[in-house]
Amino acid sequence: MPLPINLKKSEKMTYTVLVTGGSGFIGANFVRHLLTERPDWRVVNLDKLTYAGNQANLADLADHPAYTFVHGDICDQALVTDLFRRHNVQAVVHFAAESHVDRSITGPDAFIRTNINGTFVLLEAARTYWQVQERQTERSRFLHVSTDEVYGSLGSTGYFTEETPYDPRSPYSASKASSDHLVRAYFHTYDLPVLLTNCSNNYGPYQFPEKLIPLVLNNAQHGKPLPIYGDGQNVRDWLYVVDHCEAIALVLEQGRVGESYNIGGHNEKKNLEIVELLCDLLDKKIAPLPSGEPRRSLITFVRDRLGHDRRYAIDASKIERELGWRPRFTFEQGIEQAVDWYLANRAWMEGVLDGSYQKYYDSMYGESIEAKE
Ligand code: NAD
Ligand code: TYD
Repeated sequence: MPLPINLKKSEKMTYTVLVTGGSGFIGANFVRHLLTERPDWRVVNLDKLTYAGNQANLADLADHPAYTFVHGDICDQALVTDLFRRHNVQAVVHFAAESHVDRSITGPDAFIRTNINGTFVLLEAARTYWQVQERQTERSRFLHVSTDEVYGSLGSTGYFTEETPYDPRSPYSASKASSDHLVRAYFHTYDLPVLLTNCSNNYGPYQFPEKLIPLVLNNAQHGKPLPIYGDGQNVRDWLYVVDHCEAIALVLEQGRVGESYNIGGHNEKKNLEIVELLCDLLDKKIAPLPSGEPRRSLITFVRDRLGHDRRYAIDASKIERELGWRPRFTFEQGIEQAVDWYLANRAWMEGVLDGSYQKYYDSMYGESIEAKE
């Protein structure tokens, strides 16, 4: 397709990336990564600050000259359309989503709205600005960040490849699968320069303590029960969040348009193994429980999650082969760093748990849509 190149000279100087959901767990790590590793890029972070969005995650970068925070909803078509024009957005890295499977089981509505409708709004805004208004350049990209959960659940053998048929089984994974299909449809129908990544479970700094690892770390520190769903034998394939961010940046710059890339750390673990490891690490690093018992004694088997997927495992050979990506951190290194981060940042966890993370930043930025402009 001929690429309309219609930029004024000044606009060519900066590469502006719209990151959606940049105040959440992976998004914040990614914004941090870009501001450090791509100093000549500009980052516009559009985040609604739902319960999962936390401005403390980027507080130290709030005044960075290449960073703009926009408090708003990806479903707000007028806002999103305007952002493309005002910032001359040349790339989108789309993280914003409802992301927790358990919440999707008790309340799927928000998942349909944000994950499906919100992705549609972003796609339309990108198509309008880049193609109808002829602002597309050879570097324009729409990178959709997705999950391995779209592929369904594995038995005890086999791996998800990019060719594995979609078989989502929770409202969360079904909403992500829908958005993946929409993104691909925009490539085939409109030649929108899209990329997709499907990653396994992440862990690391700034993860909301509803997810297994930060939840267990917090409960185990305070001597609270550690809930294990079902028999604890479900398998997840864990990746350190920094490795995920590096993979996304690489796909954005070097991935083939229209392609999907699976991202994973070759690191399958049973849930029970993970929880036992976290208990043992805390027993080594902090004071023992008042009872003197090892923290494993806190493990409590609870009712299984509805429709609980048994096993996820990623075959990441395509991104390794085509783009030369490899995880930099072994699981032992990554989990040790993550545990140390949570121990060194107890105030962050306390702010999340007592709700003050939302009140503090509301009063700091007010209700304005363009918080910094
Ligand atoms: P998260 O729940 O920690 O963060 C989501 C962010 O999106 C929050 O900052 C939230 O405020 C924002 N958001 C939600 N709805 C919004 C809306 N309507 N408009 C604007 N912002 C909104 O999620 P995460 O774990 O960082 O995951 C980020 C992305 O990566 C998601 O798309 C998820 O599906 C995908 N993913 C996550 C994992 C994982 O292990 N966490 C693995 C693979 C893929
Ligand atoms: P989670 O972190 O919610 O990620 P996902 O569901 O996207 O994989 O859960 C990881 C695994 O841990 C999953 O198999 C469910 C299980 N789990 C528990 O056993 N107890 C818990 O308290 C949580 C939150 C999860």
